Amino acid sequence: MRKVIASIENLGMTFPSENGGLQALSDINLTLYDREFVCIIGPSGSGKSTLLRILADVLVPTQGKVTFADGQNPNRAIVFQSSNLLPWMNVIQNIALPLKIRGAGEKEALSQAGNWIRRVGLNGFEYEWPQNLSGGMKQRVAIARALVQQPELLLLDEPFGSLDALTRDQMGLELLKTWETFHPTVLMVTHSITEAVLLADRVAVFSKRPGQIIHELEIPFQRPRSPELRDEIKFLQVVKKLRGMIVTESI
Ligand SMILES: Nc1ncnc2c1ncn2[C@@H]1O[C@H](COP(=O)(O)OP(=O)(O)OP(=O)(O)O)[C@@H](O)[C@H]1O
Ligand SMILES: [Mg+2]
Repeated sequence: MRKVIASIENLGMTFPSENGGLQALSDINLTLYDREFVCIIGPSGSGKSTLLRILADVLVPTQGKVTFADGQNPNRAIVFQSSNLLPWMNVIQNIALPLKIRGAGEKEALSQAGNWIRRVGLNGFEYEWPQNLSGGMKQRVAIARALVQQPELLLLDEPFGSLDALTRDQMGLELLKTWETFHPTVLMVTHSITEAVLLADRVAVFSKRPGQIIHELEIPFQRPRSPELRDEIKFLQVVKKLRGMIVTESI
């Protein structure tokens, strides 16, 4: 039986507002398994980021609960849509920071950060400042900063949302390669159906606000997956099926 990493039960979130509260999420039920890659697709404002923030322990839900396999403080990392790098730290310092916060020594933290810099293809930019990097490079730093923590659960909130189509494509393929060698459980929000079908084992489709899961689709393709898969008829058929599931929802 597959190991459950996180179990989300009857989760709801209502933010306080002047007219009695804004309900962002309603009755979300989702189980995340070990080494599984799950994508969430849904309309803007349907509570996708809210769900990730709850899972990252940045927000406390108003209804329901999340249970983690390893107690209430599992090893998890989140990458936001904007890279959120600390501008007064260079690339390697940004990536090493979470390790230092967890008590790693300077030398060890920098050495592990250096490994991830190579793995995300940023060799030579170790001592560069965030403001001198392109959008794609900043997102690579943010992804390396999450992966250096070797999280059991990796939460990705539209990590490539601000990138141009070509860079986005490349970053998706890099993420696929990294995930296939290192295998954390991933929950990723994306607006790209193609990206979701290429990367995910399972896709959850959100309704309009308040967000509910209206469909779940298993993606039937073997791994490792290559970029050429995107041109195959069977891939396009799954894309079409998923598009049909969200056709009534504008995303
Ligand atoms: N901290 C907050 N306080 C009050 N309302 C909030 C807060 N965070 C989010 N909301 C509201 O909750 C709803 C869901 O927001 P959320 O950011 O989760 O949507 P989303 O699905 O991630 O949208 P997008 O695809 O545009 O990123 C929105 O109506 C938003 O205004
Ligand atoms: Mg969002």
